[in-house]
Amino acid sequence: MNKQVEPFLLEPGHAPVDYQHHARTRIDTATEARRERDGSRVGISRPHESAHLHVAGAAAYIDDMPELAGTLHAALGLSPVAHGRIKAIDIDKIRAMPGVVAVLTAADIPGANDCGPIIHDDPILADGEVHFLGQPVFAVIGNDRELARRAAAKAKQVLDIEPLPALITPLAAHAAQSYVLPPMHMNRETNGGAKKAIAAAPHRLQGMLSVGGQEQFYLEGQISYAIPTENDGMRVHCSTQHPSEMQHLVAHALGLHAHHVHVECRRMGGGFGGKESQSGIFACIASVAAKKLNRPVKLRVDRDDDFMVTGRRHGFEYSYEVGFDDEGRVLGAEIDMVSNAGFSADLSGPVMTRALCHFDNTYWLPDVTIHGYSARTNTQSNTAFRGFGGPQGAIAAEVIQDSIARHLGRDPLDVRRANFYGTTERNVTPYGQTVTDNVIRELVDELATTADYSERRAQIAAFNAASPVLKKGLALTPLKFGISFNVKHFNQAGALVHVYSDGSMLVNHGGTEMGQGLNTKVAQVVAHELGVSFDTVRVTATDTQKVANTSATAASTGADLNGKAAQDAARQIKERLATFAAQRHGGEAKDVRFANDVVSVNGQQIPFPALARQAYEERVQLWSDGFYATPGLHWDRVKLHGRPFYYFAYGAALSEVVVDTLSGEWKLLRADVLHDVGRSLNPAVDIGQVEGAFIQGMGWLTMEELVWHPTTGLLMTHAPSTYKIPTANDCPPVFNVRLFENANAEDSIHRSKAVGEPPLLLPFSVFLAIRDAVSAVADHRVDPPLRAPATCEAILDAIDAVTRGAA
Ligand code: MTE
Ligand code: MOS
Repeated sequence: MNKQVEPFLLEPGHAPVDYQHHARTRIDTATEARRERDGSRVGISRPHESAHLHVAGAAAYIDDMPELAGTLHAALGLSPVAHGRIKAIDIDKIRAMPGVVAVLTAADIPGANDCGPIIHDDPILADGEVHFLGQPVFAVIGNDRELARRAAAKAKQVLDIEPLPALITPLAAHAAQSYVLPPMHMNRETNGGAKKAIAAAPHRLQGMLSVGGQEQFYLEGQISYAIPTENDGMRVHCSTQHPSEMQHLVAHALGLHAHHVHVECRRMGGGFGGKESQSGIFACIASVAAKKLNRPVKLRVDRDDDFMVTGRRHGFEYSYEVGFDDEGRVLGAEIDMVSNAGFSADLSGPVMTRALCHFDNTYWLPDVTIHGYSARTNTQSNTAFRGFGGPQGAIAAEVIQDSIARHLGRDPLDVRRANFYGTTERNVTPYGQTVTDNVIRELVDELATTADYSERRAQIAAFNAASPVLKKGLALTPLKFGISFNVKHFNQAGALVHVYSDGSMLVNHGGTEMGQGLNTKVAQVVAHELGVSFDTVRVTATDTQKVANTSATAASTGADLNGKAAQDAARQIKERLATFAAQRHGGEAKDVRFANDVVSVNGQQIPFPALARQAYEERVQLWSDGFYATPGLHWDRVKLHGRPFYYFAYGAALSEVVVDTLSGEWKLLRADVLHDVGRSLNPAVDIGQVEGAFIQGMGWLTMEELVWHPTTGLLMTHAPSTYKIPTANDCPPVFNVRLFENANAEDSIHRSKAVGEPPLLLPFSVFLAIRDAVSAVADHRVDPPLRAPATCEAILDAIDAVTRGAA
């Protein structure tokens, strides 16, 4: 037996190459220390503002809040069928159960029975029809959470539902032309259009690809705690990325105005897009119950119910045709993208728009047509998830590049390079935005050199030639990700900065903290502006009573928008203080300096708290609001054309895997990442985001599998027992993450770039390295039909197909 069939997966040290010399020198601590001494508070690796609380279990989440006397608990009664007509609900039977105070149905909602963020097709509680297995039909309100849950679990016995035909898969829905929105088409013609360019090209390829969805798996599940307040008010503590949206949805459901509803969120235990719109149903049900019973009501769903009720990343099905020349340069491409939208629109429209806007990834596509279909299925309504459709658009582009290279027998990196956007020509996206900040060529060159791409390609070929069972694979994939919301008016933010008379500061802004370090960055921006130490600035809960009309913390724009708004507020205070300092101490306001907790004015050094006190006594306004709106954006949603993005973030990753071709098991041996965050506000936080996104994206593409029963529509993978997310053990033993030196070409906050989502595209390299290893089974002569997630089964299926194809 081949000696390699040892349980190598248990031994990370098994890799034959010695990678130890790759030191993880990623944070330049000397430069940062110098920067800080010189008075800078940005470009410095600060710990997350709540890190000490997170590790001590002292960071308060909503379920940690002391409950008010009289608090009731809600639990949801879920539809047991995927599609059907509700004939009767035997409410009395539930009401009679122990601990039950009330049972609410759609008829108990005083305002609109709708929690859809854009299109109003999302009932809070099903009315008349149910559209997926797991849809909430009634809410049980009890004295005790466990008793309420026990009663709600009787749903199957009290619901009389006449089943209707259900569409479970997106391709079945596409065939039936069942969509949540009209299909979208993006088209660009340079040489007569995609069809003509493909027909005239020297080479052509057709293909299909299937990419699954992904559960956000935030550690803190969905939760809302609604408290009735005087004169028709409602205070809602909600784990949400979008407090203003929750405010509107609750007001709508209660038939009240926005000013009646107060939403607050100190932090989330993760959101990842899953709490952008879909925290709404929980906020609405808790509020409706609180209003009706005039008691505080908390709704914290169990993990299984969270899986059953809420949607997640859209799975996509693709079919494409592409024409290219001998170098692999794409001349024409046409692609159908079918997303699984689930039963309602939710955010499927903007998700599909972003998918269409990322099919180019880093590549110039002269003639291209992209069709986007958001298929309506009888499943949970899919929603935002880190990348928001961008990853789904770009993965198709990367698989196509890979297939072109294999078809031509060329190195995939050469084909990619041949297709890269130029800087002065070949640089207009299919949606008409000119790429003016392109650094992908330099970035990829640097990564390929520092991570020894060519040498390792040769080593792997040699390894595979001598290894019949274990096959290694390598892939380097680039990314470009557009930053801003496609909807122009979302690109605005507000902030409130208070300087107290003792010199301490409190910052409030419209963004929400979900672990990504937004509050840390905003506090750094304010500390930098007013020249004070980090500990001087404290950031508080996001609160609709402090900053109004906020956007979701999403599209990775949190620091870009709220950082600028907070800077605007801090600058106004600084100007007032400078004017006051010059009046009091002489000299000119423009010469006053704020650094290292000292204000320098007219040759004098005044401690910041002393100046704050003096200014307060002189009746100077020590607090300010701030505002920011991203300039230069426009978007025609009908033509799918314009400048939807302020700038682009770039990155690349090189991954090496080994696959056991007998079992389909695989392991990531090494990953090298070079990622562009502009001029980082906080390198430690940014590297954490890059690493986290890499592993999360790897989970999406390789192990997280959603399985709906083909006839009943039951989501069978609805708990961690059956739905596997990556663990620390899945991190590669060699993981070199570096930030690319590159100031943002646009005037972003301190020339930084957004980091939350773009690095989720880095692990395309893992998926394509697996594909490379599978294709090694037949000497790279057959293109592996590998689907995502590349589970062991999917890998074995692809190996079978390659072996058969070669024979
Ligand atoms: N990081 C952590 N730790 N937890 C999260 O929930 N969400 C991601 C990303 N990083 C998330 C995260 C998503 S989906 C987005 S859009 C951004 O953070 C949002 O935050 P930002 O705009 O401040 O980057
Ligand atoms: Mo992130 S998917 O934009 O919340």
